[in-house]
Amino acid sequence: MPAISVSSPGKTILFGEHAVVYGHPAIAVPLTSIHLKASFLGLPGQAAGTIRVRNANTGQDELLSDLAVDDPVRAALQYTADYVKVPRLSATEISISSTIPIASGLGSSAALASTLIRGFSRYLGFNLSDQQINDLSYEVEKIQHGTPSGIDNTVITYKQPIYYIKGQPVQFLKFRKAITIIVADTGIPSLTKETVAQVKADLDQQPKVVKPLLEQMGLIAKNAKKELCSGNIEEIGHLMTENQDLLKQLGVSCPELDKLVAAALSAGALGAKLCGSGKGGNIVAVVHPEDAEKIKSELLANGAVSALIARVE
Ligand code: PMV
Repeated sequence: MPAISVSSPGKTILFGEHAVVYGHPAIAVPLTSIHLKASFLGLPGQAAGTIRVRNANTGQDELLSDLAVDDPVRAALQYTADYVKVPRLSATEISISSTIPIASGLGSSAALASTLIRGFSRYLGFNLSDQQINDLSYEVEKIQHGTPSGIDNTVITYKQPIYYIKGQPVQFLKFRKAITIIVADTGIPSLTKETVAQVKADLDQQPKVVKPLLEQMGLIAKNAKKELCSGNIEEIGHLMTENQDLLKQLGVSCPELDKLVAAALSAGALGAKLCGSGKGGNIVAVVHPEDAEKIKSELLANGAVSALIARVE
């Protein structure tokens, strides 16, 4: 089989994380300056069924059969082989490398699933549609996150800005004007499963407090869609900061995220909020392009371990 190589971008959620788990809309965009890559190479002369997995970031070099059954790499490859109905696999080496930081709300787990499914199916001679790849990626995400909304695997598989409501067909967004964003990392791991479980527990215990917060986030995402499609950048910024206030009330921010949000705003960002599950991970800020470098420097001076500027259209 000819060697192949595929890659997927990272992502950031501009509006509606957490609320999206409960059926409210959310908006996410791909981040193409970070990506996860996987290559598939035949190993002639080695026994059929030998699948070797190498990860340049972790130093992992293992046989697939030695990975835990619920390991996302094993799950992604197994689901793909079962889906395309290839019972006997020829010896293959799979090499993974990534510039998407893990546990930081930028989609590393969804990128891993989506890339492996796209690459392995293609390597086996099947040209799966984005929808098929997305459906399989969602199954892998469930193993890791329990009750994912599906927004991460969807934006990463389709590689386009999306307006997403769980269980409904995805809507692709065409922004009236490109927006410039800065994504800055607290360096604190953000553990999606735990944060989502905390929100669920709070919702169960205090529905009268938590439900309205989630509903307001949904309304903000709905308004933000209109503003993105009409190019009103100032209003997009306001909505982002309003979304952050609600996320704070929901209890998923932390002092380090708050500090970066405040630094972005005082340096001239139009709006800023945490992105992803929170309690660590990254913030996203929307900025005028001419202010981007200055705001990025301020974020780095205020504790960000890294920051990237992206243009999204
Ligand atoms: O995995 P993260 O940190 O990118 O968070 C995903 C967004 C959540 O809304 C918190 C969870 C979900 O499944 O949508």
